[in-house]
Amino acid sequence: MSHLVRLLPTGASFQVEEQESLLEGALRSGVAVPYNCNSGTCGACKARLIEGGLGPSRFHDYRFSEAERIEGILLLCSATAASDLSLELVDAAAEIPHQQIEARIAHLQQPTPHHLLLQLRTPRTRTLRFRAGQSVTLTLPEGLQRSLPVASCPCNGMILEFHLERLAGDPFVAALEKGARSVQITGPEGQVGLDEHSSRPLLFLAEGSGLAVVKSLIEHTLALELPQPITLVWLTPPDARYLDNWCRALVDALDDFTYLPLDPGVGSLQLVQLPTLVPQLANSDLYLAASESVAAAVSAAALQAGLPAGRLFTLPLAISRP
Ligand code: FES
Repeated sequence: MSHLVRLLPTGASFQVEEQESLLEGALRSGVAVPYNCNSGTCGACKARLIEGGLGPSRFHDYRFSEAERIEGILLLCSATAASDLSLELVDAAAEIPHQQIEARIAHLQQPTPHHLLLQLRTPRTRTLRFRAGQSVTLTLPEGLQRSLPVASCPCNGMILEFHLERLAGDPFVAALEKGARSVQITGPEGQVGLDEHSSRPLLFLAEGSGLAVVKSLIEHTLALELPQPITLVWLTPPDARYLDNWCRALVDALDDFTYLPLDPGVGSLQLVQLPTLVPQLANSDLYLAASESVAAAVSAAALQAGLPAGRLFTLPLAISRP
């Protein structure tokens, strides 16, 4: 019999069989959780039980303090589930370590003549821990490197997505298209992430492949089941909307998701009108992934419309240049 385990604050969830440890269930599902020894010794996999019933614990050497016992702290590598569970990861607020992981290139897709979607798969036991909004460096076997934001949800550290612009003469892109099979991931880097404690409406504005970092933030928002309305403004020409279907699927699936594709051909005019296009602009949290000039224009319009400066989050430029 299997049970559903939900992790806070990431919102990730996975199924665990009654006979396996919670850590085994998480790793089998590709859910990134902190751990080290996998044998009940180091304490790296501590979590707090919020709701649900535990099954028999496997033997462990780690000694809980009295305070940890009272708090309901458990070890993911020795605890089992007897019902659906909600858990809070104890070291979730701690710094995510710098990691180096060999990953397999699982999929390379060309949704438009000018874009590539790259999907990597890490080993089950070496998933990437990162926050939405962070970047990593990818190194191909011949040494070619590219720093890119992760475009997928941190709730799945095993399947990682990246967006690349397909520029003529880019050796990194050429090596991928020639059939590179593996890549080394190092990172993550970057400080800007989702303010999970805010209840303000969420407004994401991406220019071109700035959609990558915004996609990770939106998927994280959905994994956390945050209740506020979401608006996505995507500034890119109609023939370069390489994930238009993903955007439209969210509109269909969610009650409170608005998608506004803007054409940069008439974009400067429309950006000045942003407060009209997004009436709740001043009350929102604005996440911006755009070139310097667009970011400056949007920031000025938003601040003039009454957005507090502290609610404007500028994401690292996500456009992938050689
Ligand atoms: Fe070391 Fe669980 S991973 S105690």
